[in-house]
Amino acid sequence: MVGQKAAEYVRDGHLLGLGTGSTIRFFLDALGQRIQSEGLTIRGVPTSQATADYATKLGIPLLGNEVPWDIDLAIDGADQVDPQGHLIKGGGGALLREKIVAQAARSFIVIVDQNKLRPQLGLPFPLPVEVIPFGWRTTQRHLEQWGWETRLREHHHQPFVTDNGNYIVDMHIPSIPNPLELERQLHDIPGVVECGLFVGVTSLVIVGTDQGIQLTYPPGSEFSN
Ligand code: A5P
Repeated sequence: MVGQKAAEYVRDGHLLGLGTGSTIRFFLDALGQRIQSEGLTIRGVPTSQATADYATKLGIPLLGNEVPWDIDLAIDGADQVDPQGHLIKGGGGALLREKIVAQAARSFIVIVDQNKLRPQLGLPFPLPVEVIPFGWRTTQRHLEQWGWETRLREHHHQPFVTDNGNYIVDMHIPSIPNPLELERQLHDIPGVVECGLFVGVTSLVIVGTDQGIQLTYPPGSEFSN
């Protein structure tokens, strides 16, 4: 439902940011169908190799790094959404590319199911932080300055490696009352490439609920006019 709904916002000629995750695949399926049935001319900027592969299979044309991106609309999933539309992302490890693409987009639509909605960001979902492998234990020690537990993300008992060749440290933070302040503090730590906090970038949240689709417009959203 949310994938179909998000595809309705796509217009002919759009440059689209294509997010990562299981939810976004429903959007890509719906977009592929519109391209086939309506002959839509769009291009997509994928936020992960997995999305690039899936989009290519569906016949969605992609744009690389040849030109700076003026993205009309980016669509992505999220791991948590608060009432202001601030997000935790990076459960799939694609947070860095997702943030570059979201910030290069005029509008950013988030598609989630109702279980992702939270009154405040924080546990039970940990905050992913992408760090460079060089000195990662030192960077992790910096991340522990607030006393929260941190864990290096692993895959088959080896460090999980992002599409950018980096590691992910997951921070177990009980609650994040001021996501913007925490994002800035994390950016000040050498070795931190990016964190999974998306603050003030969301234009529209499309929520799948047991009763159907619900649209939420964060404060200042251009879609609410
Ligand atoms: C990828 O790194 C994430 O930011 C995803 O967008 C997020 O984890 C949502 O994924 P699902 O749709 O699979 O829950």
